[in-house]
Amino acid sequence: MSKLVQADRMKKVELSGIRHLITKADKLAAQGKDIIRLEIGRPDYDTPKHIKDAAIKAINEGKVHYPPIQGIPELRKAIAEKLNKENGLDYKPEEILVHGGASHVIYTAMVSFLNPGDEVLLGNPTYTSYHKVPFMCGATPKYYDLKEENNFQVDRAQMESLITPKTKMICVVNPSNPLGSVLNRESLEIIADIAVKNDLIVVSDEIYERLVYDEDKKFISIATLPGMRNRTITLNGFSKWYSMTGWRLGYSAASAEMTEVLNRSIFYTVTSAGSFVQWGALEALEGTQEPSLEMKAEYKRRRDYLYEALNGIDKLSCLKPEGAFYIFLNIKETGMTSMEFEDYALENGVALVHGDEFGTNGEGYVRLSYASSMDNLVEAVKRIKAAVEKLK
Ligand SMILES: Cc1ncc(COP(=O)(O)O)c(C=O)c1O
Repeated sequence: MSKLVQADRMKKVELSGIRHLITKADKLAAQGKDIIRLEIGRPDYDTPKHIKDAAIKAINEGKVHYPPIQGIPELRKAIAEKLNKENGLDYKPEEILVHGGASHVIYTAMVSFLNPGDEVLLGNPTYTSYHKVPFMCGATPKYYDLKEENNFQVDRAQMESLITPKTKMICVVNPSNPLGSVLNRESLEIIADIAVKNDLIVVSDEIYERLVYDEDKKFISIATLPGMRNRTITLNGFSKWYSMTGWRLGYSAASAEMTEVLNRSIFYTVTSAGSFVQWGALEALEGTQEPSLEMKAEYKRRRDYLYEALNGIDKLSCLKPEGAFYIFLNIKETGMTSMEFEDYALENGVALVHGDEFGTNGEGYVRLSYASSMDNLVEAVKRIKAAVEKLK
């Protein structure tokens, strides 16, 4: 047998269905078909100018060499201060690491702490990377339910039923991609309680933390709960709030002991995040937040519109998203599978993602991103409505 084949651990690591959908939609667009693109979670804004200027200034000042593995000290300090002030987390700058995107934190967290055979608990549904990276570590994903009938909150008994001697880690994406939900204190306390009782690591993905839209919904960092500081790897990044997806910059906050392990993993994978990119990120944190606040206000306006408009279409329904920029749309009454609905929507000029891409509980749903202009959303709703009415 040829040896020019993938490692066994890569066999379950297929490219995400969203990537295939993007390729399909690109091809149709190249053929002249008008497709509204609601499949990707990419803010439809430019990076604010003052952030770009800071990175350009850093390049012009010759900040183009290897930065420290951990990240530049100025940025680590600013992140520690942000986490302290905004999230109530008391990590020191030495406990912050700068990574090549939040995606890279997910990888370094898993590769640094999961042994082959370990089990990792993931939300069902959850963001695509979490499903695949465990396989790259020889670990096994197990799934805790996040169901619409439970407002996408955690079910204690179901989560407890997953615990075995091999369980090592729980991953939490809050606010959720793809659900648009925010975990309430009770859900976080359930997770924390199970983690403490079973001595588990918690990876808390907080990349959408600032995109929570209603006054009565408060985002809580799980590491602030009793017993959680030293067992949580809090991860975050600049992609969403600052519209910096192409900059590839994220960060982790964890105990000094965990940070030391993560740091070695960063060194042997990417050596460090980009240098001038980090100077841009420092300006992002320390400069005006006004452009991001404007983006947030516009996402909220779009959310409110989509929530009303989609619920107004016969056979479709959704809960009101509380955070991030996704709607998880219930399509069960159409009688179609999620994949059939994705194909049908694409034929009718709207790219959206089949919900089971994010886990089996996503069957019967599709995910739409509202990081797209209001005009696009209005037209997409028109097309979806017409398409669903044709089914009668
Ligand atoms: C929940 C979640 N975590 C992580 C990421 C990856 O972010 P980054 O661009 O910083 O790698 C995304 C991107 O969509 C996401 O939705």
